[in-house]
Amino acid sequence: MSMPGHAPLASAPSSLLEPDLLAAAPAGLTEVGRLVTDLTGEAARALRRRNGPLPPLSPDELARRMDADLPEGPLPETGRGRAAVLALARSYAAGTVDLADPRAAAHLQPPSLSVAAAADVLASVFNASVDTWDSGPSAVELERRVVRALTDLAGYGPGAGGVLTPGGSTSNLQALLIARDAALRARADIRGAGLTGLAVRPVVYCSELAHFSVARACALLGLGEEAVRAVPADAAHRMDPAALDRALAARAADEIPVAVVATAGTTDYGSIDPLPELAAIAHREGIRLHVDAAYGGGALFSDRLRPLLGGLDAADSITIDLHKTAWQPAAASALLVRDARDFAATTGLRVAYLNPDDDGAAGYDGLLGNSLATTRRADALRVAATFLALGRQGIGAMLDACHDLARHAAAAVTAHPDLELTAEPVLTTVVFRYLPARRAEADTVNGALRRRLLRQGTALVGRTDLRDGSVRLKLTLLNPQATKTDVDDLFAAVIAAGRAVETDGEPQ
Ligand SMILES: Cc1ncc(COP(=O)(O)O)c(C=O)c1O
Repeated sequence: MSMPGHAPLASAPSSLLEPDLLAAAPAGLTEVGRLVTDLTGEAARALRRRNGPLPPLSPDELARRMDADLPEGPLPETGRGRAAVLALARSYAAGTVDLADPRAAAHLQPPSLSVAAAADVLASVFNASVDTWDSGPSAVELERRVVRALTDLAGYGPGAGGVLTPGGSTSNLQALLIARDAALRARADIRGAGLTGLAVRPVVYCSELAHFSVARACALLGLGEEAVRAVPADAAHRMDPAALDRALAARAADEIPVAVVATAGTTDYGSIDPLPELAAIAHREGIRLHVDAAYGGGALFSDRLRPLLGGLDAADSITIDLHKTAWQPAAASALLVRDARDFAATTGLRVAYLNPDDDGAAGYDGLLGNSLATTRRADALRVAATFLALGRQGIGAMLDACHDLARHAAAAVTAHPDLELTAEPVLTTVVFRYLPARRAEADTVNGALRRRLLRQGTALVGRTDLRDGSVRLKLTLLNPQATKTDVDDLFAAVIAAGRAVETDGEPQ
């Protein structure tokens, strides 16, 4: 059998003995360094040929380009070696979103930090897992320390705990699992028979602007999406505590409140529910309070924005997404709990092949019992590398810079006759729309102008719909190196695209 390309990526049986085949071997580490240098070099060259955050391709064109780049598909019968991998890097970079481009401002998806990306390579090299102590001793210890840093930052005491999860949706799911079991344990054998035979209806209270993952979690937990009681928000897009009070008072006799879910940083507006008031209500009613701070949790790093999260430490659990406002590669979410015993009561588990009792008693314990997952990456490595490199203040300064950009953007919208501001920014998002000459066409024009920019690849802005279904555009500003001029340029691009759609319609 021939061996095309470089040995570690070839398919011949003799390559199995190559000293640099395995990443963590001494020769493998050197090879990883070389490959990373080569792959990032290819990516840099491909990006230099671009003129915007997206490739100037329609979805069909991108698919055809990938057919051409991977003529044999991603799984050829025999290995094609190093050259194929370098070509793949070129193709991938040419077609990727470039979040470091200051004109990328659509989603809660920041450009990742170099230090975090590099540390992530090391996590992949050693491939440790945190489920058992012997799957990755330093990974287990590091996650414990990162979690402790986060619970301290959130204002929790020494009994607190936490776990890194694959995203805010999963953190919210696990928080509601804990809440469901706490509320229903006395009424049903939750871990055994599940909800079978339960004669009550569990319900969850959250703002009408809460993230959809709350409803999805209710469905996954067997409560059904109908368990969600959507509490009206006020004009500032914050859950109205009086409305929560009314919803609680109006509950039917067989409805058992499982949790109040407050949002600290709604996806569109960045608005923060009134945490002290909601905590007081939840406390009074004996209901768990979960705070979904997936977006707003990053404010904890910032001296300027931290006061917005006053009352957060009264929550029973908190979701914080470090892959949103701490510039981590996805995914690095954390679920924090005020009382670490919440895990033992729900996901706590002893399994003979992983963490038998006698190993645990001897101190050889991993983090299996904290998590919905079994095998789990050493995600704490990139988080710790970031924290050490930048410090709390460094991360806070990044958020402050984005907050400044959002305030500038809001002022720019207000000053422009063809733009309309929907809400003053709280964190780093700005919701607005382009005003076409024929106002009745505003929704179609705003939807089409965003796609026009996507197709050109020159600007990436977000979109949302208001409660009445009308279309808005959104900037989610998470590039701390973007300038006010970049923001002005984004608006110029939006206006130009809006005018082009008004005159030419949407190109097919
Ligand atoms: C408020 C809020 N909660 C939860 C999530 C879900 O986070 P993830 O995408 O990491 O699952 C998001 C995502 O944007 C969010 O904005």
